[in-house]
Amino acid sequence: MKIVVTGGLGFIGSHTVVELQEKGFEVVVVDDCSNSDEKVLDGIEAITGKRPLFEKLDLKERQRVEDFFSRHADVAGVIHFAASKAVGESVDKPLLYYENNIGSLVYVLKELCKQRRASFIFSSSCTVYGQGDEMPITEEAPIKEAESPYGNTKQIGEEIIRDTCNVNPGLNAIALRYFNPMGAHPSAQIGELPVGVPQNLVPFITQTGIGMREQLSVFGDDYPTPDGTCIRDYIYVVDLAKAHVVALERLLASKNRENYEVFNVGTGTGSSVLEAIQSFERVSGKKLNYKIVARRPGDITTAYADTTRANEVLGWKAKYTLDQAMKSAWEWEQKIRG
Ligand code: WQD
Repeated sequence: MKIVVTGGLGFIGSHTVVELQEKGFEVVVVDDCSNSDEKVLDGIEAITGKRPLFEKLDLKERQRVEDFFSRHADVAGVIHFAASKAVGESVDKPLLYYENNIGSLVYVLKELCKQRRASFIFSSSCTVYGQGDEMPITEEAPIKEAESPYGNTKQIGEEIIRDTCNVNPGLNAIALRYFNPMGAHPSAQIGELPVGVPQNLVPFITQTGIGMREQLSVFGDDYPTPDGTCIRDYIYVVDLAKAHVVALERLLASKNRENYEVFNVGTGTGSSVLEAIQSFERVSGKKLNYKIVARRPGDITTAYADTTRANEVLGWKAKYTLDQAMKSAWEWEQKIRG
């Protein structure tokens, strides 16, 4: 079966391509390479022995999207990662985010609606919940006003898919709301490649550990949490990639109960910033140089997933621990910078 993975050269996309190939799917990677490198295909091939088909394509170009899907009319499903994802940048450049993240989604959905039956997996985010009122966060938790245009594009994206599924019974979709993805493939052939100064915690930790960054700034230790630092649900990227394959297979086998479903994808366990640092120190044997600074505007205090629906309905559960994920992130950092 042929599966299209948009944004397939990206961090989560590339790990999902590997899992799809290992399950025997034929994969076509689509990426505009605006925030990724075609060399990622070498890493995927090194792991699976199969180089996926690749087409460089800007999904904002409606005609080119139409041409692509007419050439791949035998596509069984699409996993849609392609989007801009830097929260801070989205505040400075909202129209770039709305045009790219919403425009691309609309054009891909238009093509899928031409098919008798289509399976579509959407890369969503726990950011849609904002600061949840109750922990752990369930899929029924209220959707809060987005803290950034990036987060808003995920909320709007889910609504577009829901409304489109409502009038296209042949379109079957699942939105996966990720918590905090981290780590790298155990082969260290693929991993996270942040462009410039990393915004996310884990790559900043490993770049500090390798000496690329002088010191990690911990954004606040005066939060109402046990150690004062923010709590997140750090999920290993390979666990997350496997969740996409399980979700896709659910749709391909018509096991979905509704033609639009939503699942939280996390470990169900919260870890603080200081606990993440301690995890790095355990797995690397190195002391991390960090200092406590002021809070980062827009940060929420605590977020970790209620994974009941993913475990019991989707039939997926995260298997890896924070230390295992952190070890893979550290091994990847040493591989690319060592
Ligand atoms: C985690 C914690 C920071 C960096 C973001 C996006 C979200 C999703 C995942 C795409 C926070 C602290 C961080 C640093 C720090 N992305 N931190 N020093 O903000 O939970 O979520 O990435 O979907 O949409 O918002 O992740 O890794 O930026 O921060 O102290 O140098 O680490 O304050 O508490 P976040 P993060």
